[in-house]
Amino acid sequence: MCAASGDRTPPIRLSLRSRLIPLNLTLNLNLLLRTQGTGALMGKITIKQGDITKEAVDVIINAANTRLAGGGGVDGAIHRAAGPSVMEECRVIGRCPTGQAVMTGAGRLTAKKIIHTPGPVWKGGERGEADLLRDCYVNSFALAHKAGLKTIAFPAISTGVYGYPVKEAAIIAIDEGIRHLPWFEEIVYVCFSERDLEVYKKTYEGCRS
Ligand code: APR
Repeated sequence: MCAASGDRTPPIRLSLRSRLIPLNLTLNLNLLLRTQGTGALMGKITIKQGDITKEAVDVIINAANTRLAGGGGVDGAIHRAAGPSVMEECRVIGRCPTGQAVMTGAGRLTAKKIIHTPGPVWKGGERGEADLLRDCYVNSFALAHKAGLKTIAFPAISTGVYGYPVKEAAIIAIDEGIRHLPWFEEIVYVCFSERDLEVYKKTYEGCRS
């Protein structure tokens, strides 16, 4: 677990073998199951550079805004690649508060679904930004898990127009990835720039050691 991220328990419960158990307990259970060699819970984390719209995963995550209105950055790229059906679904949904997540189809993308989550705007770090960014990951994972989606790709939510420092954002992103690994076959972090890729790789190594 990533030491720099604190030990806040996520505000969700995930089912494992048809029981509802707090996530911090299921992680311990996961360790136990692994040591017993069941082989049932073996997700992997991948960190790469690229365009998330090209990812052949079950679900890609969109760094949206609360109006689900589309925009620039990864949001614009996803809507352009997916086509108008996704925006139509977003209009029907209407809004999504910061840190929450909603799911639509994926239009022309290879992915089956898109989860849209508005990250926080960075205001110096004292306005609950870290908790809200963590909520984006926790709620996206919960929605994907509930829909039975096993492979999931994230962009670096909030680190573009919204100004969240990449290193701090990467710690939260990867910490939540490690916590949710038992429920996914693959969690992919797609970094757009080489600089972000290096930050993510170093953060991942730091979280593992
Ligand atoms: N694939 C992967 N990552 C991408 C892509 C892409 N095709 N395009 C941009 N990115 C990266 C950016 O380089 C940045 O690292 O996604 C990260 C998030 O940046 P933004 O897209 O600006 O998202 P965010 O900071 O969360 O701001 C959200 O921007 O476009 C608007 O509607 C969006 O208002 C919302 C705001």
